[in-house]
Amino acid sequence: MIKKNCAVFISGKGSNLESLIKENNKEDFPIEIKLIISDKSNAEGLKYSKIYNINCLPLDYLNFEDKKDFEIKLLDFLTDNDIEIICLAGYMQILSSFFIQSFEGPILNIHPSLLPKYKGLNTHQRALDNNDKLAGCTVHYVSENVDSGEIILQKSLNINEDDTCESLQKRVLKLEHQVYSDAIRKIFTQTNISSSVKN
Ligand code: GRF
Repeated sequence: MIKKNCAVFISGKGSNLESLIKENNKEDFPIEIKLIISDKSNAEGLKYSKIYNINCLPLDYLNFEDKKDFEIKLLDFLTDNDIEIICLAGYMQILSSFFIQSFEGPILNIHPSLLPKYKGLNTHQRALDNNDKLAGCTVHYVSENVDSGEIILQKSLNINEDDTCESLQKRVLKLEHQVYSDAIRKIFTQTNISSSVKN
């Protein structure tokens, strides 16, 4: 199988990044992670660059004159590394229309809610405040409106009566690790992976 060259963008811990790296070590996974990009030079997840020997570009967003300047540097680096797909994994910058239109391949994101519910931040607390029965996560294409692009795959779990924001966040994060790689398999290998309710 010819794998697509992928860059994963992070801002924080990088647990989704690590789970994608583990998956991409399997022969039948359709992408190969060639690059880790971070908008913070001290992001915890950058440690995976050393651990798994993957090239990284830790850019400090604040060192650039403006967003366009920052994104031009990013796009050049992606082109130089023949990157064909971008996976956002806890990346906290909003990509501009300029960036989204300039990058020719798909850009994917994982979001910790059952979109279109709870776009933006504090998704778990909002689900608890609304007494929702289900929480979950969504992998979607990135479009110009935040957390609004076409949905690729979504999975849910039941919210327990004793769930707190922390416990829910932990359980959904575990689900995210599975859903992100399933979504990538789904778009590149046409695997029939259906959404499901888990607990
Ligand atoms: C995840 O919950 C992701 O959905 C959200 O930010 C979190 C990042 O976690 N956008 P990690 O850095 O992958 O551990």
